[in-house]
Amino acid sequence: MRERTHTVHQALKAKEGEEVSLLGWVAHKATLGAVTFIRLRDGLGYIQLAIKKGICKEDSLKVLKDVSLESSIWVKGKVREDKRAPEGKELLVLEGEVIAKADKWPITKDAIKSVSFLYDNRHLSIRGKKATSVMRIRNELIKAIMNFFYERDFILINTPTLVQSAVEGGATLFELDYFGKKAYLSQSAQLYEEAAICSFGKVFVLQPAFRAEKSKTSKHLTEFWMLEAEQAFTDYLDNMKIQEELIYQITKQVEEKCKKELEILNRNFKAPEPPYYRITYDEARDLALKREINFEWGEDIPTEAERIISLTFDKPIFITHFPLSARSFYHLTDEQDKITYSSDLYAPEGYGEIATGGQRIHDYNKLLERIEKYNLPLESFKWYLDLRRYGMPPHSGFGLGIERTLRWICALKHIRAASLFPRTMQRLNP
Ligand code: 4AD
Ligand code: MG
Repeated sequence: MRERTHTVHQALKAKEGEEVSLLGWVAHKATLGAVTFIRLRDGLGYIQLAIKKGICKEDSLKVLKDVSLESSIWVKGKVREDKRAPEGKELLVLEGEVIAKADKWPITKDAIKSVSFLYDNRHLSIRGKKATSVMRIRNELIKAIMNFFYERDFILINTPTLVQSAVEGGATLFELDYFGKKAYLSQSAQLYEEAAICSFGKVFVLQPAFRAEKSKTSKHLTEFWMLEAEQAFTDYLDNMKIQEELIYQITKQVEEKCKKELEILNRNFKAPEPPYYRITYDEARDLALKREINFEWGEDIPTEAERIISLTFDKPIFITHFPLSARSFYHLTDEQDKITYSSDLYAPEGYGEIATGGQRIHDYNKLLERIEKYNLPLESFKWYLDLRRYGMPPHSGFGLGIERTLRWICALKHIRAASLFPRTMQRLNP
């Protein structure tokens, strides 16, 4: 195999006249008079190659002039400054070779007008500048999340994907056969985190979650990545505080480290500085009612109301004091058992919910009563209940959707663009 002496980035930093060899893909090709220009992409950056008769070896010249888009190639040449090149420098090619020839590239300017074509060919279309920018931002976002929790002495745990019970209600469970018994794909790692806080004090998880979402919306995937964190000896206010700190720190890191990528996406993104807004469920409902979006007290906030609330504020918004009837079984409630100590976090600009969290029931009898009230199979929840017999303190936690957060940061029309290979009701391939 041909070897490279430099990456594209290193070549762009090389001295005038320095000889380098590069490996990469042909992202673009044009012939202007006697010169063929190729934009070479190596996965980290782009550089212009200039292929000229008399300078480039005869056989290489022919091969490179005819090379098809997205073929992978090896080139050797001299770095030289040229103000006309997009990076201010180009490689004057002396020699080159095709490593793997590409068939006619199907992602043409016309073809990209069809969203379904692009996603049917996602294995190829992810080479584009926009898709790679989103994924670089995702990479930075995840790096920032890991930094945030490790800086604060949280322990990263891994929890099962195959589970016996629902965390977020039965309606969105993926069911499968487990040696003659029913098993499900995990909707959330929360219950396992609650067990683990009694070992470590504070834990976090970053892994896929599965929901059999039958809705075709721009914010639902069937498989998505969720960051979840859980802390012993905390209440729902501590839980909002840490979410606020998290969102600021991770968005600030993305803003600072992904300037180029945000520019490619045409996104002017600024990390929102805390404090974020806090409104109650009742206030959120009033806001919706004023816009003639009507829903009964006790129901979950409908999508249209969520959008309106999210558009009303210029920074993230916590919605607190949800009625129990709109929440999962594990939420701690007030004396009347009506209002939960929970919160949803909405991103602004219409993107809506990115996180849900709250304080959990830590008392044995209270939890048993709730499991019965929700008609949950006691057998599957026995271990979860058991935790309340062995020193479970007040505790709280939350889950943040990675693709929802990325969708907001990158201002993506549809959540599928936040996933390299998205899974939705209609898409299981590629
Ligand atoms: O609001 P959810 O269902 O909350 C939980 O699962 C809690 N057990 C988390 C916890 O407290 N540890 O999901 C949390 C977040 C949502 O706010 C949203 O960002 C994301 O996960 N999410 C989805 N993202 C994409 N597609 C879906 N179908 C999603 N469902 C939830
Ligand atoms: Mg939620």
